This record gives sequence, structure tokens and C-alpha cells, in this order.
Amino acid sequence: MAQASATQETRKVRCSASAVGSGDGGGEVIQDLSEEFSRAGRSVNSAEAMDQLASVFAAYNETTNRMREVHRRLKTEVARLRRELRQKNEQLERKSRLAALGQMAAGIAHEIRNPLGGIQLYASLLEDDLTDQAEPLKLVRKISKGVKSLDTIVNDILAFTQDHNCRKSEVHLAGLLNGVIDYIQPHIAGSNIEIEMSGVDRQLRGQVDVSMMRRVLLNLLLNAIEVMGGKGIISIGAKSCDADSSYNVRIDIADDGGGIRDEIMSKIFNPFFTTKDTGTGLGLTIAYRLVECHGGQISGINNENGGATFSILLP
Ligand SMILES: Nc1ncnc2c1ncn2[C@@H]1O[C@H](COP(=O)(O)OP(=O)(O)OP(=O)(O)O)[C@@H](O)[C@H]1O
Ligand SMILES: [Mg+2]
Repeated sequence: MAQASATQETRKVRCSASAVGSGDGGGEVIQDLSEEFSRAGRSVNSAEAMDQLASVFAAYNETTNRMREVHRRLKTEVARLRRELRQKNEQLERKSRLAALGQMAAGIAHEIRNPLGGIQLYASLLEDDLTDQAEPLKLVRKISKGVKSLDTIVNDILAFTQDHNCRKSEVHLAGLLNGVIDYIQPHIAGSNIEIEMSGVDRQLRGQVDVSMMRRVLLNLLLNAIEVMGGKGIISIGAKSCDADSSYNVRIDIADDGGGIRDEIMSKIFNPFFTTKDTGTGLGLTIAYRLVECHGGQISGINNENGGATFSILLP
């Protein structure tokens, strides 16, 4: 009832307006319409009311759907921003931890470096003097070897604590990768490990600091070799990133070793974290820092069919 009379009222006003436009007396027309309404009966007006109601509902539904869609998009965006914030906070926390640790490690490494140089010098003098005495010579050579590996560790510590100045230039990435593979050949000579580059885009160029990126790739390849137990395939991939990515280039190094155990996954980039008897636990930390210097990202995941893949994203 209320609907019908509301519609009647609407019709009155509408017709009144058109009546004014046509020069007729508005009140008269309204009167006419009332009569018309009475004549036509409520059924006509109910149908009209229903039409109007239907269009109101359709508009309402459309608005609701649009609002739902906006809400869904906002929810996704909020989730993305939350994720980004959490990642940034983790990175910040990691940076301040590394900065504190780095300062301490750099101090210790400097202190160790000087006496180490002295030991190395005296060992090599002794080596010269003992050329005709097999047993003492063997011992001195062992000292020399030990000192060299300590020197590598000290250099690694300094590399990870230094402020790196990234000097990028445009390089042919397949060439860079080939150079690193050549360098690493002695480590796989006599083993059944193969390194294959079928996933490398041979034309791909990237903006990198060559010596830094060599070191990153070397550390990743050495890790891969070390987990493969003397056999298997290391697959290297290098390609352009998708158009919607904020990076330009992606390099993947996949091995078919035992993979990264779940319980250590969150620690592998931490300084001095190692599961190896002879490891320093700085390989991945250095790689992380050097990639970070490029404005890039490095991550490691386990492959579905075994082994692990380390990926580098570069701007
Ligand atoms: N490809 C891989 N597969 C499985 N685990 C890996 C792989 N690469 C690294 N890890 C794990 O991450 C740890 C840290 O690696 P990282 O290179 O930093 O140190 P490290 O190899 O142990 O010693 P360093 O590189 O200093 O000689 C390793 O000890 C190993 O447990
Ligand atoms: Mg390593």
C-alpha cells in the first residue's frame, strides 16, 4: 500500500514538471493523474512500483558487489603490505645484528691477520732451510697449510664486514658464469659431478660488480659441490625476469644433493652458521651481503625432487 501511494506521488510530481514545461497548469495535471491512477487501478502502479524497486535493488546489488570487490582488493593489499613490513623488519633486525657482529669480527680479524702474516713468513723460511729433511719439512708444510686456511677465514671475515662499494658494469652473464665454472673445475675434477648451463640465456646481460658476483657464484657452487657427495648434476639457469617483477635478471643454481634441512632453513644466511666440520659458515653470509650491495635478493629453497636451489634476483 505504502509503495503504491509513494509511486502515485512520484508520478504526480513528474507529470507536474512536464505539465509546467508544456504551459499547462501544474495542479490541474496532478488532479488528472490522480483520476487516471484511480481508473487504471492499483495493478498498474504496483507493476511500476515493482519495476522501480527492481531497479533500486539492482543498483543496490551492483554497489554491494563493487564494495565487496573493493574490500577484497583492500584485504589483499593489506596482507601484502603486512608481509612486506614483516620482511623489512626482519631485514632491519638482521642488518643491525650483522653490523654489531661485523664490528667485533672485523676487530678480531685485524688482530689475527698480523701475527698470521708473521707465522706464514717464518714457516716459508723454515721450509727453505729444511728442503733436505723430509720429516721436519712435512711438519712445516702442515703449519703452512693451516696458516693458509686461517688466512682464508680471516679474509672471509673481513670481506663480510667491509663496507662494499659496488662498481657495476654491464656484463655478459653467460661469460661470467663460464669463467666461474672454469675456476671451479679443479674442485670437481675426478668426481662425477657435472655442471650444466642449458637454462642460461646466452644473450643475457646484467649490471653487476664482476668480482663481487664471481664470489657469490663461487660460494654457491662450492656449497652445491660440497653437498653432492661426489656425484650428480648442478643446473645453472639465468634469464630475464617477468615484466611485472621489480628485478631484471634471475640466476638459479640448483643441485641434487640432500637439500636444506627444515630446522636450519632460517639460519643458513647467518654469519658463522655451518653444519660442516671444516666450514666457517660465512659463504652464504658473504653472498647475501654482496647481492644486497647490488640492490638484489638471494634465497634458498628445497627442490620438489630433492636438492636445493639458490636464486639471485638482480635489478
Ligand atoms: N646447496 C646446499 N644444500 C644444502 N645445504 C646447504 C647448501 N648450501 C648451504 N647449505 C647449508 O648452509 C650452511 C651455511 O652455508 P655457508 O656457505 O654459509 O657456510 P659453509 O659452507 O658451511 O662454510 P663456508 O662456506 O664458510 O666454508 C651450510 O653449512 C649447509 O648446512
Ligand atoms: Mg659455503
